[in-house]
Amino acid sequence: MINQKAYALGANRSCIRDLFEYGRQQAAIVGSENVYDYSLGNPSIPAPPEVNDAVRAILNDTDSLLVHGYTSAVGDYEARRAISDDLNARYGAATRPEEFFLGCGAAPELVSVFRALAVPGGELLTVAPYFPEYKPFAEEAGLVFKVVPPDVPDFQIDLEALAAMLTPSTQAVLLNSPNNPSGVVYTRQTLTALAKILREKAAAFGHPIYLISDEPYRELVYGVEVPYLPAIYPDTIICYSYSKSLSLPGERIGYVLVPGSCADSQMVYAAVAGAARACGHVCAPSLWQKVIARCAHLRPDLVRYDRNRQALYQSLAAMGYEMAKPDGAFYLFIKAPGGDANRFSELAKKENLLLVPGDGFGCPGYFRICYCVSYDRIQRSLPVFERLIRQFQ
Ligand SMILES: Cc1ncc(COP(=O)(O)O)c(C=O)c1O
Repeated sequence: MINQKAYALGANRSCIRDLFEYGRQQAAIVGSENVYDYSLGNPSIPAPPEVNDAVRAILNDTDSLLVHGYTSAVGDYEARRAISDDLNARYGAATRPEEFFLGCGAAPELVSVFRALAVPGGELLTVAPYFPEYKPFAEEAGLVFKVVPPDVPDFQIDLEALAAMLTPSTQAVLLNSPNNPSGVVYTRQTLTALAKILREKAAAFGHPIYLISDEPYRELVYGVEVPYLPAIYPDTIICYSYSKSLSLPGERIGYVLVPGSCADSQMVYAAVAGAARACGHVCAPSLWQKVIARCAHLRPDLVRYDRNRQALYQSLAAMGYEMAKPDGAFYLFIKAPGGDANRFSELAKKENLLLVPGDGFGCPGYFRICYCVSYDRIQRSLPVFERLIRQFQ
C-alpha cells in the first residue's frame, strides 16, 4: 500500500518539467540553437564573484569541522545577524537576529509556515496567477487552499474579490511579488489597501490574519519599488530565498522572518521551527550559511535580465501580443492569441518554441515566458513569435 496522494504528485510530472525535457530531446535532434526553450526559471546570470570568493575564503580560513558540521536548527547567529543588519539598513526596519529562521530555500520555508498556521479547517488564500507548488504545499499541510481570481489585465490584486473570500477560517493570505508568473510587482497602493482590508477583517473575526510574503524575486526588480511588507502590515511573515537573487538555486539557502511586530511572534516562530523539525529539517547547509554571513548585502547584476526583458517586451508588444508590464522577476505572462493558451503552446511547440500555458498558475488563456535565457535565443525566437501571431490576425 502506498499513499495515493503522494503517488499522484510524484507520478504526474509537471508540465514545465515535461516541456524542459522535450526541449532537451529536440535539441539533440535539431540542434540547441533551433530550440527556443522559455520553460524553466533557472537563473542565467552567474552568482556574484564575491560569493565564490567567500566559498574559497571559508574553506581556507575556517575549521573544517565548523564548515561541514551541524549548526543550530535555526541557523548560525552570524548569518542571521548579517541578514538582519542588511534589512534594517535598507528598509529602516528593526529586525533582530532572533527573528530569523534559516531554511533550505523558499519551498521548504513555505511548507513550514503553512504547517505552523494549519489549524483544523484553516484556510489559505492566494491570488492568481500563483506559483503552482503552493497548492500541494498547502493541502499537504492541512490548509484549505483558496484562490482569488486574477485582476486582468494588470495582474495587481482584485481587492473586492479578495475581501469577499475572507472568512473567520482564514488563517493567512499568501502573496508573491515580484510575481511568478506575471512579472508584476504589487504597488504600495495595492498593498496599503490590502492591509486595510485585512486589519478590518481580523478585528471583525477576533484573530490575526497573517500575510505570508513569498519573496524569492525581491531583488529582481527594474526601477520600481518592492515595498517592505511588515512596515505596511505588521502581521507579515516573510519567506526569502537566495535561489534567484544570488543565483544559488541548487545550494538551498534562504530564511523565514517572523518580525517582532507580528501577532504572537514568538509562538509563530516556535511553530515554524517545530513544523520544520517535523519535516526532518536539521539545519540549512552550513557552508552556505557562512557564505550568507559574508554576502547578505550583495545584489544581483541585472543588466542581462533587463536587456532580455526589454527586448522581448518591446518586440512582442509591437507584434500585437498583450501582457502586463513586467517590472520584476524574469517572467512575462502573455495573453494567448486566439484565447486558448494550450492550443497556442502546442502550435508554438511544433516550431520548437516552448511556452508554459497559464492553467497551472490559475490563469487559463495566458502563457508564461521565462526570459532567464541567452539574448541570442531571444533574437532567434522573435521571427517564430511573429509567424505565430500572424495566424490569428
Ligand atoms: C514564487 C516562487 N516561490 C518559491 C519558489 C521556490 O524557490 P526555492 O528554490 O528557493 O525553493 C519559486 C521557485 O521558482 C518561486 O517561483
